[in-house]
Amino acid sequence: MRIDVEIIIAANADGVAIAAADVVTDMIRDTPNAVLGLATGSSPLGLYAELAARVADGLDMTAVRGFALDEYVGLTPDDPRSYAHVIDTNVTGPLRLDPGNVHVPAGVGDDLVAACRQYEDDITRAGGIDLQILGIGRNGHLGFNEPASSFDSRTRIALLAESTRRDNARFFERPEDVPVQCVTQGLGTIMEARTTVLIATGTSKAEAITRAVRGPVSTQCPASILQRHQHAVIIVDEAAAAGLRSTDDYRHADSA
Ligand code: F6R
Repeated sequence: MRIDVEIIIAANADGVAIAAADVVTDMIRDTPNAVLGLATGSSPLGLYAELAARVADGLDMTAVRGFALDEYVGLTPDDPRSYAHVIDTNVTGPLRLDPGNVHVPAGVGDDLVAACRQYEDDITRAGGIDLQILGIGRNGHLGFNEPASSFDSRTRIALLAESTRRDNARFFERPEDVPVQCVTQGLGTIMEARTTVLIATGTSKAEAITRAVRGPVSTQCPASILQRHQHAVIIVDEAAAAGLRSTDDYRHADSA
């Protein structure tokens, strides 16, 4: 079977971070003002830390622009649980980006629907996303596009799946504090990125990765849409790759 996505398997999470940072670094050396799509959650933290180390060593990311994937509805940017705060702390500061060039969907405001439209316009005006960094939910979600999201969806207000709220409860004091709604780039938005880099580590992601890579392209597994992307890279550790077969077309990253 020929699969369309490029799969890189690293020995462990450090190797995943390095392999992903190599892809991002190549992009920035080519296009110093590249537009990055920025996932939050645990998966890209190693990548951001590795990039921060490279920036400390001289990699210049000051012209890079960024658009976060999603935000919780109801959380203000100064709330430590908001993705705006996470992006500030893990990306904008350590990577020395210009804060004026880093955008996060608004989670509060009088007219979030208009803000979603504006977010799409801002991405278009920036020339589109060159490289979208992604994680994957255990249920196969991309951004907060939960199963059954339309493949054509754009940045919008969406409902979080109950399983996602449970998974993300670790970032909140009480499970009931996890917001019910979010603003997320749509699958249509994500698919327009020129390159996508999906990062997944650990056995808890193995089933979702198998469905994304080998399963039917179905809205029941939103990440399966990446099989139709023009340049999708999936970087996983051995544990998350457990369901892929040796006959799949992948390469091993140099060991970290
Ligand atoms: C976060 C996002 C989500 C996460 C996914 C995995 O911005 O869009 O799709 O990437 O829920 O989360 P972690 O990495 O915490 O397992």
